[in-house]
Amino acid sequence: MLLILLGPPGAGKGTQAGQVVEDYGLAYISTGAILRSAVKEGTALGQKARQYMDLGQLVPDELVVEIVKSRLQESDCEKGALLDGFPRTVEQASFLEKVLPETGKKVDCVLLIEVKENELIERLTGRRVCSECGTNYHLSHKPPKVRNVCDECGGDLYQRDDDSLETVKERLEVYKSQTEPLIDFYNSREVLARIDGNQDIDSVRDQIKAVVDKL
Ligand code: AP5
Ligand code: MG
Repeated sequence: MLLILLGPPGAGKGTQAGQVVEDYGLAYISTGAILRSAVKEGTALGQKARQYMDLGQLVPDELVVEIVKSRLQESDCEKGALLDGFPRTVEQASFLEKVLPETGKKVDCVLLIEVKENELIERLTGRRVCSECGTNYHLSHKPPKVRNVCDECGGDLYQRDDDSLETVKERLEVYKSQTEPLIDFYNSREVLARIDGNQDIDSVRDQIKAVVDKL
């Protein structure tokens, strides 16, 4: 099974991903997380990617498709995968269509999580992330039990560099111009499922489960 989580920055893709991966035994591929870890490690990829990410812009397609291509060949993807944050341009989606047959897979479902724009801004500017395990928190919607400490692993929480108000606004514009065309792309292939992401975290999880259970 191959699932894609599509939706604007702050829609809750990362928040929902953990449960989906666990429920269906899928490998988790988040291009954003892979890129952030390359930036942290200071690799050549990280150095190139950082200049785009800090501005809220997309990293060039040729860099990202290489990451996904090699990640899909790893053994844990044999049983299926959940893509979070990829594809996010029509070029990336076309690339995926081209390489998937080589791996014996096809896109089974694209889960589009839709959330109102003012809510997205509130979610992103209030987000905190664990520096050790990557678990997402929110200052008011999902606070940790102890301030700035991860409930799961005890790691320190931090604010992502691209979660400042100015960069969030740029990311939302980039989503509209470069990623939204994927809605028509996948709708025409009859694999798009719309999820109301304005609801609370558990209700969104239930909606996703209802869709994926029927696949
Ligand atoms: P990426 O890491 O993919 O970020 P994004 O798409 O902008 O999405 P986010 O991770 O910000 O949001 P999310 O939907 O995961 O929300 P979350 O669950 O955290 O990409 C970052 C950058 O990397 C890009 O800008 C680009 O530069 C580069 N990049 C990555 N992939 C690329 C690609 N394919 N091509 C080119 N460049 C690429 O939730 C947000 C907050 O809301 C949290 O605080 C959470 O607790 C809270 N929350 C979640 N759900 C709910 C709910 N239902 N109710 C209330 N609060 C909620
Ligand atoms: Mg995310």
